[in-house]
Amino acid sequence: MARSSWKSLFGCFSSHSAAAAAAASGKSTKKKSAKKKTKVAASGSGSKPRRPSRSLHGRMSFSDLSLNGGMVSPEDLSLSLVGSNLHVFTIAELRAITRDFSMTNFIGEGGFGPVYKGYVDEKVKPGLRAQPVAVKLLDLEGNQGHNEWLTEVIFLGQLRHPNLVKLIGYCYEDQHRLIVYEFMTRGSLEKHLFKKYAASLQWSTRLKIAVGAAKGLAFLHEAENPVIYRDFKTSNILLDSDYKAKLSDFGLAKDGPEEDETHVSTRVMGTQGYAAPEYIMTGHLTAKSDVYGFGVVLLELLTGRKSVDKNRPPREQNLVDWARPYLNDSRRLDRVMDPNLAGQYAGKAAQKAAALAYQCVSLNPKSRPHMSAVVDALEPLLALEDDGLVGPFVYVAPPDNGGNDGREGGHTRRAGRRRSQDAADSVAVVVERV
Ligand SMILES: Nc1ncnc2c1ncn2[C@@H]1O[C@H](COP(=O)(O)OP(=O)(O)OP(=O)(O)O)[C@@H](O)[C@H]1O
Ligand SMILES: [Mg+2]
Repeated sequence: MARSSWKSLFGCFSSHSAAAAAAASGKSTKKKSAKKKTKVAASGSGSKPRRPSRSLHGRMSFSDLSLNGGMVSPEDLSLSLVGSNLHVFTIAELRAITRDFSMTNFIGEGGFGPVYKGYVDEKVKPGLRAQPVAVKLLDLEGNQGHNEWLTEVIFLGQLRHPNLVKLIGYCYEDQHRLIVYEFMTRGSLEKHLFKKYAASLQWSTRLKIAVGAAKGLAFLHEAENPVIYRDFKTSNILLDSDYKAKLSDFGLAKDGPEEDETHVSTRVMGTQGYAAPEYIMTGHLTAKSDVYGFGVVLLELLTGRKSVDKNRPPREQNLVDWARPYLNDSRRLDRVMDPNLAGQYAGKAAQKAAALAYQCVSLNPKSRPHMSAVVDALEPLLALEDDGLVGPFVYVAPPDNGGNDGREGGHTRRAGRRRSQDAADSVAVVVERV
């Protein structure tokens, strides 16, 4: 499959990001096809060889296996991951479970290739629970794709947490590189916030997703051998049937700094609008870079706006720059809250979440909270969900199919909490303030 080159991130940011544009330079190395999102891949400080000793006391790191240019053999990989309970699939098995990668099983496509739905059970592999799975087929072009595939298998194969998507297995056969994950019924947060389900996420669900995603990041940062995720964004937060959030896509993940180091030096990679400004400028990666990305996602949940939106007026294109002045101002916060919430959110909880987002997107990484503190601050907000609902009246337009209540036009009623996610799809809601 032909993939167009990724655009450089630099030059796309406003204000603080402009400094990054001036400071950094380099060519894109990653590629992207179906989506137009811009990922960063610029030359920064070169990576130092890492000590391979970590495998002696805990999780195996990427560098332990990739000292030979990333070309670890299939046998070495499966031996290294013994104990991870991963299934090694053949390409024939994965063809069979996805109906030969048919379009009817096609779920979507990101920067690394298409994803298909499939079903597995004991007949495919002994000991495999019957379940739907997502099969990601890496579209290999050069070593970069292989390295990211390997990174994902190594990290996700060894990390287990309720807020990380579960890796079921992989295929490493000839030129084939595939990954098999648990199937996440509701797809990505990006879809729910910005695509066909627009307006369907109610406040309590947004908070629940933010808490789940924060727990996933906190787990990574506080693991015995910490991990920096590096690609935190709405498309990498997947949702199960109950809107539990799980992080996916560990292709850019990095081992955290060694005890005697403050950061990891690396090429700048990530996604435009989510990457922390100091990381873009210096290539110095810390857990606080992830905290910045989390802050951006929290802002997207609050405002319903994308981190970067070229279709908006210039001053509103960068979400962080646009929203920042409102986040600590309780009287003006409602101006940036998502209109799709129709005013139905807990005012106090929204203020606290906005203040937290403000801290997370601070230009000074030291002012950003640790992810464990973010979890501690966000979780109690779930209990505030019924407090001080804003938005006293809504106008409910009649459904298109004419199935209204017999009146001409819509009707006005006291705003109540929506019980069903689907209800949001069938009515248009306009808030009237009193
Ligand atoms: N485990 C899964 N369960 C269900 N759907 C999935 C799963 N993993 C990925 N998808 C879906 O497959 C599609 C492609 O995902 P992928 O992660 O490859 O790309 P992306 O996250 O959209 O973009 P990027 O390349 O920037 O990560 C998305 O619609 C995503 O929601
Ligand atoms: Mg993804």
